[in-house]
Amino acid sequence: MSAPNLQEIHDTLIEVAQKAGDMILNARPSFQSAGNKKNSVDLVTETDQAVEKMVSTTLREKYPDYSFLGEETYKPGMTLGSGPTFICDPIDGTTNFVHGHPYVSISLGFTIDKRPVVGVVYNPFRKDLFTAIEGKGAFLNRTTRLPYKQEPEPLEGLNNALVAVEWGSDRHGNNYDIKWNTYRKLAANKDNGGSMVHSLRSLGSAALNLCHVATGTFDAYWEAGCWAWDVAAGWVILKEAGGLIASANPGEWTPAVDGRKYFAVRGAPSGQKELVEELWAQVDGKFDYSA
Ligand code: IPD
Repeated sequence: MSAPNLQEIHDTLIEVAQKAGDMILNARPSFQSAGNKKNSVDLVTETDQAVEKMVSTTLREKYPDYSFLGEETYKPGMTLGSGPTFICDPIDGTTNFVHGHPYVSISLGFTIDKRPVVGVVYNPFRKDLFTAIEGKGAFLNRTTRLPYKQEPEPLEGLNNALVAVEWGSDRHGNNYDIKWNTYRKLAANKDNGGSMVHSLRSLGSAALNLCHVATGTFDAYWEAGCWAWDVAAGWVILKEAGGLIASANPGEWTPAVDGRKYFAVRGAPSGQKELVEELWAQVDGKFDYSA
């Protein structure tokens, strides 16, 4: 197999994302007609399925030797392999989509040796196209290089940070308790053992959260429970914008893209590692998604 042509893959993923964007914009979703997967907040619509079908058919025809991992065709036990692999979330932010809220994206990543090397995230409602190829920088709408501030400010602690978090679809047990307790501590004032972050944001698309950390408009994004298709594309966009990705679990500096635990921090001349350690100190326990 010849080495993947990353520029060509990037251009193909943009075309596919724009076609998917038209499908998303033309759909008329409603939360009454959405189906459930694992539980009543893990939603899927006919549009998620139709978009994934279009994406997988197009990519498999053009790149028959590469693997494909998609949210809507995933079955327990499937794993991300080390060969060249497309990773697709047809609609990241399905909950927003069914409620008509425009924080929605299609997320298309490409990995080699399980490392994201091309990423395309497209929000068709806002016409925001985030893209990156490993080693070539990250861009909004092809021309605006990320982050927005080419000389970003240093990170000066959680008490100056705007932090994205998400509730996810697991709403019970130890993993949920860790999230809830951590949110409380991040928001609380110092006298109550908290970090008093500027605020927490929970907007409903992991892929867009990573892109907004890449732009520098979020300082950080901490989440556990989401999947490789939620983060693969945003991962390379963030890294190409100078960001860092550790694990949501304290002490884990080198997370796996399919490890389901992530902590993204924006590019900055200093303070990135300190911010990671400061947040980790607020996390009681370790997420475990092995069951
Ligand atoms: C969800 C979003 C959300 C995250 C969930 C994901 P979906 O993806 O990324 O932000 O908290 O864990 O499942 O289901 O809309 O593709």
